[in-house]
Amino acid sequence: MDAHAPDVANAPPNPHIVRRAGLQDHPDVARLLDEALPNEPYRYADNLAWDESFVLNHVALSEGRLVGYITVLVSPPDPRGHALWQRLPRPYVGCLAVKPSHQRQGIGHRLINATLAALPTLPVAPGLSGHLYLECADALVPVYRRMGFEHLLPAQILALAGMPARANAMRRALPP
Ligand SMILES: CC(C)(COP(=O)(O)OP(=O)(O)OC[C@H]1O[C@@H](n2cnc3c(N)ncnc32)[C@H](O)[C@@H]1OP(=O)(O)O)[C@@H](O)C(=O)NCCC(=O)NCCS
Repeated sequence: MDAHAPDVANAPPNPHIVRRAGLQDHPDVARLLDEALPNEPYRYADNLAWDESFVLNHVALSEGRLVGYITVLVSPPDPRGHALWQRLPRPYVGCLAVKPSHQRQGIGHRLINATLAALPTLPVAPGLSGHLYLECADALVPVYRRMGFEHLLPAQILALAGMPARANAMRRALPP
């Protein structure tokens, strides 16, 4: 055997698969969200029913079981919306959740990266801004920083959305 060739047979397997999600994933995604976000009233699994002019959805699987979900809004924002999420530029992360037993294994980051890779393939791609936006609680700011997001200043949010933020707004540049 070539001493310089990668030792594929003994390489640790990558146990996580990330793929585009569809309506068939709804029951598993709903269960995952009940576990990862038990107090969330909005049913983010229902975004699986929308087509890709509205949302881009991915799931992560580990040993065939669903362990992560991301839903990203890609339809145009509503400049008259009452909430910041309605007004911030698109794409916008509606929800990112990883099964508690599988958190801190890089799955959330892989779901973000899969989204960034898929965005240019969408029919709405030319209408999207140059950044992926999200809002999050204080505790998650360092987590999203590790995933390459920058924390927006109040003046930046005001300029982008025409209203102040109640939570943290962050963004990450889309790949060129
Ligand atoms: C937020 C969430 C999606 C992150 O997913 P995850 O798969 O655990 O994150 P990753 O493993 O990809 O971690 C990304 C980076 O953040 C760091 N990180 C993750 N969780 C962290 C924590 N609780 N504290 C500090 N750092 C953390 C990781 O170490 C990693 O950094 P590194 O790449 O430098 O090692 C996950 O914690 C979650 O589902 N939380 C509950 C649901 C939620 O609140 N979602 C957001 C609102 S919709």
